[in-house]
Amino acid sequence: MRTIVITGGTDGMGRALARHYLAAGDRVVVIGRDRAKFETLLDAAGSQAMPDSDAVPAEFIAADLSSIADIRRVVEQVRREHERIDALVLAASFIRQRRQLTNEGYEASWVLFFVSKYLFVTGLADRLRAAGRPIVVNTAVPGARADAIDFDDPGMSQGFTFARSNAQQRRANELLGLLATAGDPRLAYVTWGPSGLVRTSFAGEVGPGMKITAAILGTIAGKRPDVAVRPIIDLIDSPAPGRAAYRGTKPATLVRGEHDREDIARLAQMIERDFR
Ligand SMILES: NC(=O)c1ccc[n+]([C@@H]2O[C@H](COP(=O)([O-])OP(=O)(O)OC[C@H]3O[C@@H](n4cnc5c(N)ncnc54)[C@H](OP(=O)(O)O)[C@@H]3O)[C@@H](O)[C@H]2O)c1
Repeated sequence: MRTIVITGGTDGMGRALARHYLAAGDRVVVIGRDRAKFETLLDAAGSQAMPDSDAVPAEFIAADLSSIADIRRVVEQVRREHERIDALVLAASFIRQRRQLTNEGYEASWVLFFVSKYLFVTGLADRLRAAGRPIVVNTAVPGARADAIDFDDPGMSQGFTFARSNAQQRRANELLGLLATAGDPRLAYVTWGPSGLVRTSFAGEVGPGMKITAAILGTIAGKRPDVAVRPIIDLIDSPAPGRAAYRGTKPATLVRGEHDREDIARLAQMIERDFR
C-alpha cells in the first residue's frame, strides 16, 4: 500500500486524486481546511472502494496552508505518523487577485503557493527518501521567465500584480525541484499544469471579471477533474528520477536561467531566515 499525501485534497483536482487512490487501496493523507468536504469524499470513496469495510485508509489534517504555524504543525504531524511517503501532491489553491497579508504578516499567496510547498518538500524529504520510487507533483504551471522572482521584495509590498505574483511562485516552484533532487537523486520532481481549464471550484477572492470568465470557460471548455488528473496518475505510477515539467500529458521545457542554483539557494536562505 502506497502512502500519498495531497494538499488541497478536499476539492478540485486534489480531491479527484484522493478518490482515485482510495479506490486503488492506497493510504491517503488529505490536507485542507474543510473537514465537511473530506467527509463527503469519504462517503463517495468508501462505498465505491471498500464496500465491505469501514476501514477506509484515509486521514484528514485540517490546516490553513497560508499560516506558517499551521504548515509547520502539519509537516510535524505527517512526519510523526508516516515513516514513508511515496507521493507528495501539492495542489492547495486559493486565488487572490490582490495582495493580502496574513495574520502572521506575510503575503498570503507567496506563502500558500510557494513557502508552504518549500516547507513540505524540505520537511518531508527523508520520508520521501524512504520510498522506493518517490515523487513530488507540484501543480505549479511550468514556464515562467527566469527573472520572475523579486528577491528584494518577494512579498511584493511594491508593485504587486496578480500576473507578477503568479509568475514568481511558478518560477520558484520550478527551482525548488533543483533543491529537492539534489538532496535525493532518486526523487522525481514534476511541475505540472493541466493542458487547459479544469472544471474545479476555483476557490479564491477574485473580481467579477475573473469569476465570470472562469465559470463560463470552465463550464464550456473545462475538463472534469477526474479526467484532467489522469496524467498525474501515470506520472505517480512510473516516476522518473530528476526534474520534469508537463502540461497535461505533454512534457514542457524547463526554463534554464543563468543563476538557477544561486537563485534557489537564495530562496532557501530567505525562507529559513524569515519564516521561522
Ligand atoms: N482548475 C484549473 O483550470 C487550473 C489551471 C491551472 C492550474 N491549476 C492548478 O491546479 C491546482 C489545483 O487547483 P484546483 O482548481 O483543483 O483547486 P480548487 O478546486 O480551487 O481546490 C483548491 C483546494 O485547495 C484547498 N485550499 C485552499 N486554500 C487553502 C488553504 N489556505 N489551506 C489549505 N488548503 C487550502 C481547498 O481545500 P478547502 O476548501 O478544504 O480549504 C481545496 O481542496 C492548483 O495549484 C491550481 O493553481 C488549476
